[in-house]
Amino acid sequence: MKRIAVLVSGGGTNLQALIDAQKRGEIHNGEIALVLSSSSKAYALTRAEENGISSLVMRKRDFPDRDAYSAALAETLTERNIDLVVLAGFMLILTENFAKAFPNRIINVHPALIPSFCGEGFYGLHVHEAALKAGVKLTGATVHFVNEVCDGGPIILQGAVAVKEGDTPEILQKRVMEEAEWKLLPKAVSYFCEDRLSVDENGIVHIAEEKE
Ligand code: GAR
Repeated sequence: MKRIAVLVSGGGTNLQALIDAQKRGEIHNGEIALVLSSSSKAYALTRAEENGISSLVMRKRDFPDRDAYSAALAETLTERNIDLVVLAGFMLILTENFAKAFPNRIINVHPALIPSFCGEGFYGLHVHEAALKAGVKLTGATVHFVNEVCDGGPIILQGAVAVKEGDTPEILQKRVMEEAEWKLLPKAVSYFCEDRLSVDENGIVHIAEEKE
């Protein structure tokens, strides 16, 4: 059984999608062992508690800088024998060293079709604001491995979502979550736990057939 840590900062609807998938038996060979929040006020912590999942708060402001914060985070996850780190609405950019400590073992969900609307500054509602401003007719979500480039790691799964007349960033965010994020993230996590994901020398992810 692979031990999964879910890192959150806010509402935690993606965490909820993972918890629900786990309850339905859809996370094969994995269990959510820890929820780690960058904020003590995150509603995601209530979701963890309601579901009997251990949680921890680690705030960046309690550390001298991003390096120290990322190093402490990596240490905590290593101490707890975490196999897979899932960034589910985790709003802090971690250091290169953090990514290197868990090579192809960190998964992020991003609310756009990477390489569009991604990188530093593109998070949460800002992503949907940018998509609406650009007038794209299709957006979506991407689940990818995290490497040292912000939102630049190998892509695991993507799902397209239509932009509709009259969309606000909030309406679009909700549609992208419902139609893409909440489905793709649990699926990618299960693939990882089943050892079905591999990354080739060009940084392309391959998904192996389900084992009998
Ligand atoms: C989600 O839309 C997630 O894709 C996004 O923040 C939201 C968190 O919602 N993440 C990023 O923008 C990271 N770059 P949640 O807390 O309800 O899961």
